[in-house]
Amino acid sequence: MSTQNSEFTAVVHDAAEIVTIEEEGSLGIYEDAAIAVVDGEVARIGATGPVTREYPPEDAQFAVDATGKAVIPGFIDPHTHALFAGDRSDEFEAKLQGKTYQEILAEGGGILRTVRAVREASDEELLSNLFSHLDTMLAHGTTTVEIKSGYGLDTETELQMLDVIARADDQHAVDVIPTFMGAHAVPEGRDADDYVDEVVREQIPAVAEQGIAQFCDVFCEEGVFSVEQSRRVLEAGEKHGMTPKVHAEELAHIGGTQLAAELGATSADHLLYATREDIDAVVESGVVPVLLPGTAFGLGAEFADARAFLDAGAPIAIATDFNPNCYSQSMGFAASLSCVEMGMTPKESLVAGTKHAGMALDMADGAGTLQPGTPGDIAVLDAPSYVHVPYNFGVNAVETVLKNGQVVHRA
Ligand code: NIG
Ligand code: FE
Repeated sequence: MSTQNSEFTAVVHDAAEIVTIEEEGSLGIYEDAAIAVVDGEVARIGATGPVTREYPPEDAQFAVDATGKAVIPGFIDPHTHALFAGDRSDEFEAKLQGKTYQEILAEGGGILRTVRAVREASDEELLSNLFSHLDTMLAHGTTTVEIKSGYGLDTETELQMLDVIARADDQHAVDVIPTFMGAHAVPEGRDADDYVDEVVREQIPAVAEQGIAQFCDVFCEEGVFSVEQSRRVLEAGEKHGMTPKVHAEELAHIGGTQLAAELGATSADHLLYATREDIDAVVESGVVPVLLPGTAFGLGAEFADARAFLDAGAPIAIATDFNPNCYSQSMGFAASLSCVEMGMTPKESLVAGTKHAGMALDMADGAGTLQPGTPGDIAVLDAPSYVHVPYNFGVNAVETVLKNGQVVHRA
């Protein structure tokens, strides 16, 4: 048998446990186990003895001895704004002094400040910033990430951002899923309706022609884009082949979740101020709720009510929301906050950062599960159990990462 499989990609063996995500979000836990990857896809998981007899480590392109370690699916981070220039560490300090996110934005800071920095940056600067953030994400076990445009707020810079996102996807081990978010803020000196006209008439057709964005997102928020304006943007995006996503009820409740449900959006994200009706609407419409506990943490805000969504049967996903206002690339930290601040169990946080996160990005069935036939996207922990991801808060539990069965990171 070993000759027949002599071309296989990888075997991770002698793991203390290998964790898979099963149907309905339960975990499969294999002890003293091995996982074999052939042609980039999971071929077999089971006890180390039989798996390594069929797939001997010495014949593998990559062999990882995981003695004493836990093995989990690579994280899928379904909501980030990871492409930007500069940082806003001074705003972090201002927020600690009591300034609100909205006050900073109203003074031309926040998103608008990052827009100025991005417009001044070259393609190469943007790409190199993004590469360094993707490296950090990968080192923390993230193997797929969604990245939004939205720091251009004009056609040329939005297209440039999407182009850089596509180049990063080509060149970096992490898979990148691109989202167009021209309606991320109202540019300085512009009227919101007038800017929405530009997004609908000019930006969306140009983005569709460029052909890079899979999703179209909007900041449906008090003082930013109303439900009506958001609907115009998302309907135009859909007409041009982009699937809707919504930033909903992040700073106030204005109805973005109901809009997401009405349009059949793939996800509604943030949901800090979601109501009972909103929870019922996402469950009925099959919209994936994406919760971003790092954002609430950074804003000093109340966390979303994860328990209410879970009790209603919603497939909660979690994400980092990595951006200059929420400066963490770590899905492990998001998992810690999910458990400690949102009442989720370690098991629920793992499913939320893998399988459900894949659903929030319309990925192929089985993404983020490590089931046979799915991509060999794997994180090996420097710890004996998956629980250490949220338990060891503030510390990266990930040691080795495989993407499609190739070792792409070793601590
Ligand atoms: O998801 N709310 C809008 N967008 C981001 C923040 C982006 C920024 O502040 O630069 C979010 O929180
Ligand atoms: Fe966001």
